[in-house]
Amino acid sequence: MHEVMKIEGGHLLEGEVTISGAKNATVALIPAAVLANGPVTIVGIPQIADVDALSRILRILNVDVNEVAEDHLIIDPTHMKNIDLDDDSVTKLRASYYFMGALLGKYGHVRMKMPGGCYLGPRPIDLHLKGFESLGATVTYDKGCYTIDAAELKGNKIFLDIASVGATINIMMAAVYAKGRTIIENAAKEPEIIDVATLLNKMGARIRGAGTNVITIDGVRSLSGCFHEIIPDRIEAGTFIIIAAAAAKKMTINNIIPQHLEALLSKLEEMGVKMDIDVDKVTIERSGKLRGVDITTKPYPGFATDLQQPLTTLLTQAEGESHVIETIYAERFKHCLELQKMGANIDLLNGASLIKGPTKLDGCKVAATDLRCGAAMVIAGLIADGVTEIGNVYHIDRGYSEIDSKLKALGANIWREMAED
Ligand code: EPU
Repeated sequence: MHEVMKIEGGHLLEGEVTISGAKNATVALIPAAVLANGPVTIVGIPQIADVDALSRILRILNVDVNEVAEDHLIIDPTHMKNIDLDDDSVTKLRASYYFMGALLGKYGHVRMKMPGGCYLGPRPIDLHLKGFESLGATVTYDKGCYTIDAAELKGNKIFLDIASVGATINIMMAAVYAKGRTIIENAAKEPEIIDVATLLNKMGARIRGAGTNVITIDGVRSLSGCFHEIIPDRIEAGTFIIIAAAAAKKMTINNIIPQHLEALLSKLEEMGVKMDIDVDKVTIERSGKLRGVDITTKPYPGFATDLQQPLTTLLTQAEGESHVIETIYAERFKHCLELQKMGANIDLLNGASLIKGPTKLDGCKVAATDLRCGAAMVIAGLIADGVTEIGNVYHIDRGYSEIDSKLKALGANIWREMAED
């Protein structure tokens, strides 16, 4: 038996939804907290399975983790021990790799299993490892485990061949205690990187330039506990904005930073979606016919690869052809195969998809092959005729905080069941 999500389509949604703290910031902030020598309080923690897995890893490291309220975590590394991370929790998510930078930075030694996460085609971590080596570490890999050691970490100039989010954050964490100055060139500029740098600076680190493509880190000797509130999740926000455009009579999405969503909002405007954008919220009203658009995914501030999949579902409802080019993960198109099962007209090309719309979607059995494919399936289920059954729900639960209750409050008919294997 396995859990499935079921959605009866065709109910027009109405009301308000409040966006949770950013998953991709949270999963870096939690490992970053262990660099402190005292308790770190983080608020705005989303209710997602990735947080549970990271909390398990913290407990293995003898870090005190206290959930004082639903979205409020106190992480106290005072009695921490640098234990080898060969637990299965490590392979449950991608972001466990942030313990590499954090433990290397704090102890000069880390041994851990290969991280897991969504399969989006090959996802190497060579740039993370090269960054650690530039700081003076040696990296070995045997029996599925990385061992990274450094007698002393020394600041260096590191040019990233690709502006990788993970490598930028990991190198930042490894460098906070390194001797002297580290300069990361061609750094990624995602808002989540600024959030992690903000936390580390509150702890006493000296990081400048986060959010630009050159980040400078001057090593310090000690970091203390602090208080931090996570930025809103721009991908969850984008997902609900797309849900509103696809299935709502009128919906307000609260707790957003519109500047983080500019690439999406301008595409939706081009499609003909009626939006009223305010300082920290957006209201979307039922639009007439939508027009197809072309999209090319790019690192921030370009169109986010994570929103390419949910947007594809909306594009099946737009008039004419839409061309989606994926430049970050060439194989991130599994959602298209699932949408085809529901009746979508999509041609798959090399690293791209061509969507011809509008097409009616029919509810059927589909799979959330990865997290954002899951979001694409939820949106499809909301607008399809009949009932859509989504398998592999655990992918959705890894990244969307309380998605069932948020959608129910908006008027969706969504529930879970156990199904035969
Ligand atoms: N890359 C390398 N070598 C490296 C690192 C990255 O070749 O050492 C390549 C990747 O294969 C990819 C590109 O560089 O083609 C960008 O990857 P990046 O490192 O920026 O991605 P990531 O850190 O692994 C984060 C998010 C992803 C999001 C990407 C791109 C987290 C935990 N994950 O992944 O989020 O798609 O940035 O914005 O922050 C999701 O939330 O569904 C998700 C997959």
